[in-house]
Amino acid sequence: MGSGIFITFEGIDGSGKSSQARLLAEQLKADGKQLVLTREPGGSEGAEEIRRLLVEGAPDRWSAETEILLFTAARRDHLEKTIEPALRAGKIVVSDRFADSTRVYQGVARADLRGVVDALHEQMIGREPDLTFIIDMEPKTALARGLARGSGEDRFEELGLEFQIALRRGFLALATDFPARCHLINGARDMDEIAAEIRQITSDALTT
Ligand code: ADP
Ligand code: TYD
Repeated sequence: MGSGIFITFEGIDGSGKSSQARLLAEQLKADGKQLVLTREPGGSEGAEEIRRLLVEGAPDRWSAETEILLFTAARRDHLEKTIEPALRAGKIVVSDRFADSTRVYQGVARADLRGVVDALHEQMIGREPDLTFIIDMEPKTALARGLARGSGEDRFEELGLEFQIALRRGFLALATDFPARCHLINGARDMDEIAAEIRQITSDALTT
């Protein structure tokens, strides 16, 4: 077994996760690290197909229970085809979202189903990241950033501000649940300043 490192980025929609995941990946590559940058939902061929079912269409298209199954199915494929092989080869895997998103979106914000999410995770996924950055920011600003992208993948953003507020609360609680791997990052700052903090925490983790 190789000893790769698994790093995830979490937070509400528009908090800057994708930007920070990309910046960290670019930095680590420039440092000569072997790295895979990936995302959820998606990150493998099959999971990207499932992604389209999840992020497009009407907000009430799926129940929270169906979403848990679809996100977990996508994650299992992502794990088998992308994450596990890269970690076995000793690479660093940086993922824009992972299981913490299901814990918060489907387990807390959409419905009170955390027990179901945790049970399915244990059965079907069974892996936690080594390091998780939770980008925290005020939902109104994040929502404006996210919708301004006009990506056509706004099913969750369209659930509205109240939903984003519940999500933020869920992510903050998660940081307390998993203090060893979760780092709470203030996202309401300049992109470069945030990236520098994340780079420092990562390089400390890589050398310990
Ligand atoms: P997420 O992946 O969390 O949805 P993104 O990284 O895609 O967030 O960022 C959403 C939008 O906000 C993008 O247009 C991005 O350029 C912008 N953005 C990201 N981080 C910052 C920041 N620190 N300050 C200002 N704008 C930002
Ligand atoms: P993403 O592409 O990361 O959206 P954004 O860039 O706007 O943050 O994820 C798509 C949506 O899927 C996002 O609103 C969060 C949601 N999601 C869940 O509800 N549960 C999950 O397990 C995951 C991975 C994502």
